[in-house]
Parts: sequence; structure tokens; C-alpha cells
Amino acid sequence: MATGMPKTFYLETFGCQMNVHDSEKVIGTLVQQGYAQVQSEEAADLILYNTCSIRDKAEQKVFNRLNDTKKLLKQGKRFGVLGCVAQQEGERIFERAPYVSLVSGSASYRKLPEMLVQLEAGRGRITGLDDRQTDETFVTEFTARSNPHRGYITIVEGCDKFCAYCVVPYTRGKERSRTSSSVLLEARQMAEAGFSEIQLLGQNVNSYRDPEGKRTFAELLAAVGEIGGVRRVRFTTSHPRDFTREIVDAIDAVPTLCDHVHLPVQSGSSHVLALMAREYTREWYLERIGWIKAARREISMTTDIIVGFPGETEQDFEDTLTMLAEVGYDAVFAFKYSPRPNTPAITRADSIGEEEKSARLQILLEQQRDQQRVSYERHLGQTLEVMVEGQTNARGQITGRTSQNKTLNFTTSQPIRPAAGSYLPVRVTAAFPNSLVGEAL
Ligand code: SAH
Ligand code: SF4
Ligand code: F3S
Repeated sequence: MATGMPKTFYLETFGCQMNVHDSEKVIGTLVQQGYAQVQSEEAADLILYNTCSIRDKAEQKVFNRLNDTKKLLKQGKRFGVLGCVAQQEGERIFERAPYVSLVSGSASYRKLPEMLVQLEAGRGRITGLDDRQTDETFVTEFTARSNPHRGYITIVEGCDKFCAYCVVPYTRGKERSRTSSSVLLEARQMAEAGFSEIQLLGQNVNSYRDPEGKRTFAELLAAVGEIGGVRRVRFTTSHPRDFTREIVDAIDAVPTLCDHVHLPVQSGSSHVLALMAREYTREWYLERIGWIKAARREISMTTDIIVGFPGETEQDFEDTLTMLAEVGYDAVFAFKYSPRPNTPAITRADSIGEEEKSARLQILLEQQRDQQRVSYERHLGQTLEVMVEGQTNARGQITGRTSQNKTLNFTTSQPIRPAAGSYLPVRVTAAFPNSLVGEAL
């Protein structure tokens, strides 16, 4: 890196919302260390990839990406690998990609300033590999938020659940929560800065335990929702084990809490759930769904499913299909099981063939699409409030998002387009399996 010149960096993010938000904080840290962000690898002194390892495909993407950019090496650039693949592979990354100088998992980001100093001193093979040691969370003075209206706050980091298929407990460290006072302080600052939507994040957001012992998760949710200027509060991802009736009561009591719960079930079969070490049964999960359905507000539900987990029989898969029909989810994120390093399930034969997994996934997605085609029609004629997202699609419609997190594309008779981040009532005139169409009132 040339001295005297502003140091530049390029950062690309893969994976979940927690990675997206970590990147906003990493960018904040780099900017405070005197770096300037650039939008291409060519223009950067330091190239960073914030990686995901949830399925094999995600991991391969990163190594392909590193290979593609290797040709930029001769111009004296430095490379860093951050995130879940970094923590999982550790120093092995230096063997696979010797031109990488920095490898750090998310549980070590608080040490990034020191690591950057070492990098600038010309050192190679710098690591931040925490391996489930720390109780600290990553809090930055400056967060480079990418959206001026909607912002994230990570309230719980890491995971202690150890589901049989999942890398997260190994890649993100042990579960640790921020104090509710610090979360509320950040939420108030965001509201003052004009953020009207706040999304609380955690791999198990509702397993939140206030280190100060002041608030439960539901109380924290309600407190964020009561901050002046906050119009929408979302939270993701909830774990069924930690899902309480109190959360439903909070949604009923505080109108700014969005009427949407993402509650991953993974399988509709208690047999498979036991193999997955999810520690709940189909009936136990359905009891929680019953609480949500009994709420005074209509709360939209979405879920994640894994098909083809080792040992999943035809009957188990049928149980998942009936589960989807019984709950009536508004969206399902379904994935084929992918064997992952270090996880308990890796020792079980990946017994369901690729073709069978694909076939099951196809059947599930088709059934779900048919169901959503019908269920989205319940909104026809309703007037829903949208937050304007900004883009206009090919049909000249403006994109908005409802409190239930549904896309509602709308037209307006007003000559002036509504600004991104504004809120409008829109009457629904058409329904599709994944979106609604309407007219602004
Ligand atoms: N903490 C959340 C989920 C986090 S990972 C929870 O417990 O529900 C996001 C989703 O990726 C999971 O819900 C699961 O459906 C999927 N997933 C995780 N590991 C996977 C694997 N090995 N193969 C396929 N899908 C996986
Ligand atoms: Fe992974 Fe299970 Fe933790 Fe979710 S709860 S992040 S699926 S180990
Ligand atoms: Fe991927 Fe890590 Fe998130 S594995 S899904 S980036 S927690």
C-alpha cells in the first residue's frame, strides 16, 4: 500500500442478514481506521470477502471468487477472508489461497483495528479465530448503514443449539447477548437519525438473555417499538424452543411490532426433528403456531425447511407437506440438506440421493406455491400500509413492503412519486403467490 495515499478497500458480502450487518460494522471500523471504500476490486488496496458456510454451495462460491480475483495479485493487493468460512477453515485458507493475508471469524471482529495495524506493517497470515471463547459482542462507534430508513441491530451473537446439520455454533462462537440498555440506546439514536424501521437480529433472536437482567426478549421488543419515530420493528430468526406466548402478546399490544413471525420448523416429522437435534416435536411446534393464530392481529408466518436430511423417509417428507398445509405459511425457504464439516450429522451417510432430494424439493415448492396463490388472495380489497422501497419495476409500479413483509407493487395517480422510506395506504387489487398489486389511496 502506498504511504500518504488514502488506503482503499473493497468488501463483498455473502450469506445472511447477520453477515450483511457485520459488514456494515466492519466498513465503519475500516473507515475509522482511515480507509476509503471503493466499489471495485481493481480500485482497492485491500479486498475483503465476508463469507457464508451454511451450505456447500455457499462455501464454494467464496473459493471460486478468490480464484477469479487472484489475477489482481501482481498489483500488490492484500486479500482478507472474513465470516463463517474464515472461522471454519482457519489457517487452512492460507494453504488453499496463499495470497490471503487475513483470516477472521465474526467473533474476533472487535480485534479488527489491531489486525489492520499488523496488515499495514506488512505482516501476512494474520488470524482472528476465536473458536467459542469470547463473551464479548462486536460494537462499533460507527456503522456504515446501507439503507437510510431501515436498519439492523444484532442483539444476540453466536449459537449454543448445535442442531445436527448446522455450522453456525462453530462459525459464530458461543451465544452472547448485548445489554438491553445498549440496544435501546442504539435504537434511539437510529430513530433520531431518521430510521423508522428497526430489525433486531440474532441466529436465535428470541433466545436473547439480557446480561443486565432488566428485560426479557418480548419486553425489549416492546421497548424498541415504543421509541418515538419508530414505525416498524422486525426480528429474525426466532427459534421454536425459545418462542413464548409473551412475544405474541407484545405483537398484540404494540402496533409498531410487525405482524410477521419467521419460525423455522426444518421438518414436519418428529422423527426427523429428533435426528436433527431440534429438541421439539411436531406437536410442540404446532402449539406455538396455535398461539400465533389465536392473536388478535392476523400474524403472517414464514419458515425454513431442510429436505433430504439423512434418515428422512417418504412418510417423514409427507409429514412436512401436511405441516405446511396445516400452518399455511406465507413463505417457505426450503433447502436440500448439505453435509457440513464439523457437524454431528456429517458422520451419518448422506443417504437421500441428489435426485430424490431435488424431487422432494420440487414437490414441496409446488405445493407451497399453490397454497400461497390462494392465501395471498385474502388481501384483495384490503387497504394495507406500505413502506416505499424506491425502485420502479418494468410495469412502472413502485415497490412497497407491508408490515407482514409482503411485496406490494403499486401505482399512484399523484404526479409526484412517493419518496423511498415514506409510508402510504395502498388498496390491494391483485394477488400473486409472492406479491400483491395495488393502487395508492
Ligand atoms: N438459527 C436459525 C437458522 C439459521 S440457518 C434456526 O435455527 O432456525 C438458516 C437456514 O439454513 C436454516 O433454517 C436451515 O433451514 C438452513 N440450513 C442450515 N444448515 C443447513 C444444511 N447443512 N443444509 C441445508 N440447509 C441448511
Ligand atoms: Fe444452526 Fe440450529 Fe443454531 Fe439455528 S439453532 S443457527 S439451525 S445450530
Ligand atoms: Fe451463512 Fe454464517 Fe449466516 S454460515 S447464513 S453467514 S451465520
